[in-house]
Amino acid sequence: MNITTIGTGYVGLVTGVCLSNVGNRVICFDIDRSKIDLLNSGKVPIYEPGLQTKLKSSIKSRNLSFTSNPKKSINSSEIIMICVGTPSKSNGDTDLKFVNQAADMIAEYIDSDKIILIKSTVPVGTSEKIKKNINEKIKKRNINCKIDLIFNPEFLKEGKAINDFESPDRIVIGYESTSSLKKVIQMYEPFNLHHDKIITMDIKSSELTKYASNAFLATKISFINEIANICENVDANINSVRRGLCSDTRIGYDFLYPGVGFGGSCFPKDLKSLSKFSKKNGYQTSIIDSVIEVNDMQRIIFAEKIIKYFEKKPFSGHIAIWGLSYKPETDDVRKAPSIDIVEKLLENNFTVKAYDPVAMKNFNKKIKHKKMSFGKNLYDVLEGANALVLLTEWNEFRSPNFIRVRELMNTPVLFDGKNIYNKENIQSLGFECFQVGVRT
Ligand SMILES: NC(=O)c1ccc[n+]([C@@H]2O[C@H](COP(=O)([O-])OP(=O)(O)OC[C@H]3O[C@@H](n4cnc5c(N)ncnc54)[C@H](O)[C@@H]3O)[C@@H](O)[C@H]2O)c1
Repeated sequence: MNITTIGTGYVGLVTGVCLSNVGNRVICFDIDRSKIDLLNSGKVPIYEPGLQTKLKSSIKSRNLSFTSNPKKSINSSEIIMICVGTPSKSNGDTDLKFVNQAADMIAEYIDSDKIILIKSTVPVGTSEKIKKNINEKIKKRNINCKIDLIFNPEFLKEGKAINDFESPDRIVIGYESTSSLKKVIQMYEPFNLHHDKIITMDIKSSELTKYASNAFLATKISFINEIANICENVDANINSVRRGLCSDTRIGYDFLYPGVGFGGSCFPKDLKSLSKFSKKNGYQTSIIDSVIEVNDMQRIIFAEKIIKYFEKKPFSGHIAIWGLSYKPETDDVRKAPSIDIVEKLLENNFTVKAYDPVAMKNFNKKIKHKKMSFGKNLYDVLEGANALVLLTEWNEFRSPNFIRVRELMNTPVLFDGKNIYNKENIQSLGFECFQVGVRT
């Protein structure tokens, strides 16, 4: 099949690479020329495990190409996939400018019948409006081209994106025409062999399915964090409560980890968007709004714990941070808890030295401050530190040499923002250790 992806971010690039790897001819289009130049030289502009190798093999087989030529990218394919960003506006509404630009471009260059497949997460009803807009513009051009619309939400997780695309839990397809549905099912056949993962529905339901999935996962995180906050006030231990709670098979262990809350490019904006468009459609959300509120508070509560600790203690060095990305295995720092926590520490006059395996460059684009610097490795940031703060549970932070950590630090104080360490073991090594939902 000939396929075009519009947008070469996490979703568009992974989609393009995986579809071309199984034999489709894929053109990836992006308005960002520097990205296209980098991709044409065989380099991946994001950190995503496994993506570089697959990209190279697809380029070699000539199944994958990159362009910033809109005409070529629209005319060459039967399926056009819209994979552009849908960020939040400052009022929480979804900013659809990139999606609308992509739709305008399709309308301007379309020369034959196409399937327009939207992968970007968009408020319910957006796909319908996009189709209407494209059709109006096609009519003005006085050409005879038919478009069919598919909404196909993407569920990949950054850091595991390749595996999620190739072995998805489900492939949700919102459709209006059965002929286009058949074509899209055929496109996904190589990823649907183990068992049938295709779930078809009307377009609006498919748009809402994406929001419902993200909202539910985010709810689990805010729920466990709320219980963790209660634990601290009543002198209970969230690590014990978690075991007791999650062992119920109806509840389960997934996504119920206490910590500094969720971040990333999806959950925060998608929850806000869901709340906003629900309200516009006559329903005021309350669970979703509380999930956002608990999450916004969680990172501040954690930062304040550190600040409060040092109110009565001598402080002569700096605070060392391990982990800046919003989760392990990604360089994405969008809405990461680290941003608010570091900002709060800097506001309170602390010097901060941070290390992250891949996210320091992106973090530095968000925060530049004379009291903020970065280390070469996990031990490099510890020399002279008054506290170590763990914010992202990268594998390399899970079992460090704590004797070396203690020796390097000014004072052996550990704030474990992800509860990955065994507190008793850490304390027996001479550390003061603070976790989320565990009273000291
Ligand atoms: N990142 C994820 O983990 C993830 C997972 C599931 C769904 N989604 C959704 O998928 C969509 C894309 O997310 P992302 O993280 O890949 O975004 P991203 O910001 O990483 O990438 C978007 C890309 O689109 C390009 N772009 C913007 N306007 C364009 C245009 N008019 N024409 C061509 N290219 C254009 C940008 O230059 C950028 O390269 C969003 O709606 C997001 O909510 C993301």
